[in-house]
Amino acid sequence: MSDTTHATLQLAGKQYALPVFIGTEGETAFDITRLREQSGAITFDEGYGNTGSCASTVTYIEGEKGILRYRGYPIEQLAEYSHFVETAYLVIYGELPTRGQRAKFSDLLTENAPIHERMVYLFESYPRDAHPMALLGAMVNALACYYPHLATNTHYGDTDNFDEAAATLISKVRTITAMAYRMSRGLPVIYPKRSLKYCENFLHMMFSDPYEHYQCPEVVSRALNLILLLHADHEQNCSTATVRMVASSGANLFASAASGVCALWGPFHGGANQAVIEMLQTIHDDGDDGSRFIASAKQGKCRLMGFGHRIYRNYDPRAKIIGKACEELLRTLGVQDPLLDIARRLEQAALSDNYFVERKLYPNVDFYSGIMMRAIGIPMNMFTVMFAIGRMPGWVAHWREVAAAGRPRIYRPRQIYTGCSCREYLPVEKRG
Ligand code: ACO
Repeated sequence: MSDTTHATLQLAGKQYALPVFIGTEGETAFDITRLREQSGAITFDEGYGNTGSCASTVTYIEGEKGILRYRGYPIEQLAEYSHFVETAYLVIYGELPTRGQRAKFSDLLTENAPIHERMVYLFESYPRDAHPMALLGAMVNALACYYPHLATNTHYGDTDNFDEAAATLISKVRTITAMAYRMSRGLPVIYPKRSLKYCENFLHMMFSDPYEHYQCPEVVSRALNLILLLHADHEQNCSTATVRMVASSGANLFASAASGVCALWGPFHGGANQAVIEMLQTIHDDGDDGSRFIASAKQGKCRLMGFGHRIYRNYDPRAKIIGKACEELLRTLGVQDPLLDIARRLEQAALSDNYFVERKLYPNVDFYSGIMMRAIGIPMNMFTVMFAIGRMPGWVAHWREVAAAGRPRIYRPRQIYTGCSCREYLPVEKRG
């Protein structure tokens, strides 16, 4: 039962009026914030599929129509006209920057590109073959040790230094990543260059040598800009919800972002981009044209990685953009990647197969991003790290929404306990 302002819940003969909360795009929610206080009951929604955990102004997604907008701007327009740093500013501060604001933000990123020299010793103490995501989580968290004035663990103190903390995180994460890559290969570390833009600087730190500067093809920096931009935010996904959860305890930006890195690592989330390439490689090595793999996925023996999404029940708009960009990048670089052919065949087969059609399973952003990163020369175990670099602006924006809220409230879900009822302690000799 509902009018436009209230829904009514009937429980044990009593009625409770639940205020209706309507978002900018008409999304409707029943506000249950006082439900337990009034009725003693809570809601149950394992996996949060029906739960709005916060109100946010950062990103809008309409999964049924395949719509994604950052701060109101359609992802298609940003992909075409903007670049990563400008979009990062938009995501974090809510508006596209003026020329002056953009220049100031870029300068802040440039100033904050180098990492504290002592962090090098930290890298050295890790095994050479450590997974880059494990390293990234550790290093992002460690930023709080080296820049303690940006990590006071008080929301007011940390929001006072927000601009510097945000730029520190977004800029250094790229230096950390490149440094981890160089060290894992026993290569000399390459320092950031003031004259280079965000993506070019990252590629320089990855691929230059002391005796030879990496010449970055324009198509490569454009592709990297696009990949990062498309990952900049995605509202309350697993990692962002984790960042907000940690932020709600008063934790600083670096600690909160490090928790996002950990949540992102899993193969059902950011780890899917690596899992897609592993899947395509297995299909290739098995001499399968994809049909055997699809048959196994339909029997529940495996999943078609890079397919499906909790929110999108239509094409992930990022997948459309990235699929096109992937073709262009490989064509321009003259790269023949058999995995791209397999991916295209899988996509075609899945899109016309009832199993996938009925479940509304479409390619997601991870389906083609790995093939692009391979073409750029980024190793497979770093794909999820690249996702994390792209997602930093979103995590920063969401951290700020939590930290700067007038009345910050710790996130603390309830549960339905289904364990044993109260029982007496048995000494060990009586336990059989
Ligand atoms: N391949 C085959 N079947 C699938 C797939 C898939 N990729 N995804 C879902 N299904 C099937 C399930 O088996 C289930 O079938 P059933 O109803 O017969 O049991 C049905 O579709 C619904 O699946 P759920 O797991 O309930 O869907 P959910 O919304 O919880 O999962 C998820 C979304 C995790 C993304 C899932 O689709 C998946 O595992 N995809 C592959 C991993 C992947 O690409 N992850 C990246 C997501 S995007 C991102 O995080 C950046």
